[in-house]
Amino acid sequence: GLRSRRRPAEEADVTVGITYGTFDLFHIGHLRILERTRALCDRLVVGVSTDEFNALKGKRTAVPFHDRASIVSALRCVDEVIPEESWDQKQGDITRHSVDLLVMGDDWRGKFDDLADLCEVVYLPRTPGISTTELRGHVVELTANGAFAVVTQG
Ligand code: CTP
Repeated sequence: GLRSRRRPAEEADVTVGITYGTFDLFHIGHLRILERTRALCDRLVVGVSTDEFNALKGKRTAVPFHDRASIVSALRCVDEVIPEESWDQKQGDITRHSVDLLVMGDDWRGKFDDLADLCEVVYLPRTPGISTTELRGHVVELTANGAFAVVTQG
């Protein structure tokens, strides 16, 4: 009857947001975009790129998928982590998780506008001055400058 067709209060009232990323060498830019996304919704689902998907993108990570996923899912602002395994899974994710809002960093501006008929699509500005690539660069530089002592045995 009518009663059983009513959506549960939870589903009706809760705004669900989703965002995607690799989150390798987790840094402050990652934390900020997840916190800012969570501020726009009640429940945040994060798609973390698998090692296989990164390989497809020509990206190699320092930290394996299961560790990156564990770190992201331990955050207070994150409610659920799902694996991101392909470019075209977003439509299915949006439907399956009743997503109201897709958030991407503005390095992706315009790229996901075709999903705007399924949910709201928002591009947030990146935190300036930090990226996984830059972080890797700093480590390489510090190593080259001898900031990390190499201990050899006689
Ligand atoms: N991000 C951000 N600010 C930064 C770096 C990343 O807001 N300074 C956002 C990206 O826009 C993306 C999410 O964090 O929405 C995940 O980014 P990811 O590609 O995993 O990290 P980057 O640090 O951008 O990695 P890379 O240097 O490999 O591009």
